[in-house]
Amino acid sequence: MMQVLQITDPHLYGSASGRLRGVETDASLHAALDDAFARVPDYSAVLVTGDLVQDDSSGYLRFRSFFGGLQKPVLCIPGNHDEPEALRRELNREPFVTGGLVDFGPWRIVLLDTWMAGSAAGRLSPESLVQLDQALRTASGRHALVCLHHHPVSMSSHWLDEVGLENAHDFWRVIDQHSNVRAVVWGHVHQSFDAMRRDVRLLATPSTCAQFLPGADEFALDSLPPAYRTLQLRADGTLTTEVVWIEQCAAGSSSSVCSAA
Ligand SMILES: [Fe+2]
Repeated sequence: MMQVLQITDPHLYGSASGRLRGVETDASLHAALDDAFARVPDYSAVLVTGDLVQDDSSGYLRFRSFFGGLQKPVLCIPGNHDEPEALRRELNREPFVTGGLVDFGPWRIVLLDTWMAGSAAGRLSPESLVQLDQALRTASGRHALVCLHHHPVSMSSHWLDEVGLENAHDFWRVIDQHSNVRAVVWGHVHQSFDAMRRDVRLLATPSTCAQFLPGADEFALDSLPPAYRTLQLRADGTLTTEVVWIEQCAAGSSSSVCSAA
């Protein structure tokens, strides 16, 4: 069994004291990682599904300080708050992987870039759609976990659905041509989501900082604490997963690490 830790939307700033919606993003990421590494010490990879930084490329230096010393692959894709060129430049060495695909035994993890200049919404380029198709077509019997930042299905939240994956139809047209996709995982929506579309598990993961209120038609924060997701990928293609909320925060702490303001 292979274990993946999904960390998403840490929104790091150039300074450790930067706050997003009242949450110190550096400290809340620290709390999430401490919990994750203690809970799943034998993880195989860390998956970071976008918004590594909050509109500030100096945040990548802080990102490197968190993840650069790990002995396991750190798989990164850009979100709408990232600068993809800066991301790839600053994370162009081990343990970072900033696109393409990675095989772990019987599983293939596909990393997609949905970043679109000047927009909070996302889009897969024709080249990315070809990359996805080829990655699934050449998987040689492996099960596939497909990763992107923007949600490819409705979140039943008007304002969020305005900034989802614009060409989700194209995405699903490719996915539906293959029978080896076991799950699609994303970030961006700062909330938990777990559903099925045909045989494919659909998973969104809360941020390591502030959360958004599910089902809201207009922007609204949720009071839930930082979180991350564990994924256990089995050789037979089944998976189990859990969203872990940071307990020190769930206990009711009002510290700026834990509570959105
Ligand atoms: Fe985000």
